[in-house]
Amino acid sequence: MGMISLIMDLFWSLYFVCSIQFWRMALLWTFSVAYSHFQLLKAWFFSQKIVSYPRCSPSIIPNRPVCVITGGTSGLGFSTACKLSQEGFVVVIVGRSEELLSETITKIKGLNEDAHLKAFQADVSSVESMIKFKNSLRQWLLDSNLHCSVQLLINNAGILATSSRATAEGYDQMIGTNYIGAFVLTKLLLPLLESSPVSSKIVNVSSFTHRIVTDMQVDEGTVSGKRFLSSKQYPYAQIYEYSKLWLLLFSFELHRQLGLMGKSHQIFVNVADPGSAQTSIMREVPATLAWLAFFVLKRLRLLQSPECGKNSIVDAALAPPGTSGAYFFGGSGRTINPSAHSQNIKLAHELWETTSNMLSGTPFGNETNK
Ligand SMILES: NC(=O)c1ccc[n+]([C@@H]2O[C@H](COP(=O)([O-])OP(=O)(O)OC[C@H]3O[C@@H](n4cnc5c(N)ncnc54)[C@H](OP(=O)(O)O)[C@@H]3O)[C@@H](O)[C@H]2O)c1
Repeated sequence: MGMISLIMDLFWSLYFVCSIQFWRMALLWTFSVAYSHFQLLKAWFFSQKIVSYPRCSPSIIPNRPVCVITGGTSGLGFSTACKLSQEGFVVVIVGRSEELLSETITKIKGLNEDAHLKAFQADVSSVESMIKFKNSLRQWLLDSNLHCSVQLLINNAGILATSSRATAEGYDQMIGTNYIGAFVLTKLLLPLLESSPVSSKIVNVSSFTHRIVTDMQVDEGTVSGKRFLSSKQYPYAQIYEYSKLWLLLFSFELHRQLGLMGKSHQIFVNVADPGSAQTSIMREVPATLAWLAFFVLKRLRLLQSPECGKNSIVDAALAPPGTSGAYFFGGSGRTINPSAHSQNIKLAHELWETTSNMLSGTPFGNETNK
């Protein structure tokens, strides 16, 4: 970093530190990740039983299983894509940048030359882009010698946006990526997940930060994020927490709905929380502060590498068939309890309705009514 950019970063850091959102992130997020680790520690200390699941490698005969992962070009998504390619999956990586996608393919091939990979350029925060992706994926599966179905979907793409901006549909960009994008992609890919000859899985990557939300509304203004786009101070930490809580509520609602459909719909839905991992997630936070945050978290023994952080995602992806509605945290197949709010059935139902109504006026509405 040059002298001028260092000085500018320090000024920006100073401005950042003077906001409530920064302190919310610095104090409450640290507390909530520590609380998740405390759940594991408490169980170990008092010899309580922690529910944990072994990893089951997928069957690669007669066809290799297909895994779609969003945000596989960096951090946790990249590490997860590497690991799943070693487990025999054909890994379909969805990313925004052609350049990053081809770099990612080269890197994974460098680590595992037998890896079966395919890259698709698509923007998770755009409904139109997700529809185009679904159509291209389907066509690619039909043209390949694979079964025209998907065995694993990992909604991993996520951002921590510190300034307000809108998606093509006018939603808040952070909500559009972290929650609405996952909702849209999951629903678009449901027919491909359903047509799998073996049971299939959905893994949603959430975060310990969801624990901080204890009260909120799920009206259209809030869920679309339009309410925040015009606010003077963009409440970025709060919106990130909301988006991760909504992803949990959505996961558990989908788990319940698929469960009601019985054996014909063998799709299992789980949530993975990677804990705090040193990735590029803080790219919009001033570099000095991001460095300081990682330094403090490391000192508190709460920071992990992406290779370690990906373990909960891989645990959820390889959990035995039948495992559904679980919250994976801490690696070694372990699960813990998410917040009570995230298990509120009424709230989950309301959120589902609001999101579906909101999207019915977009091309997604036509797609899902076909
Ligand atoms: N790191 C942590 O401490 C932590 C903790 C809890 C949860 N998580 C969650 O873990 C997930 C992965 O984050 P990470 O830590 O690995 O961060 P990261 O290194 O910044 O990776 C995020 C990935 O998402 C992609 N992405 C962002 N917006 C996208 C869009 N609109 N369309 C398609 N791809 C998009 C990025 O691609 P580009 O490179 O193109 O932007 C990147 O590949 C996120 O959901 C995050 O919220 C992270």
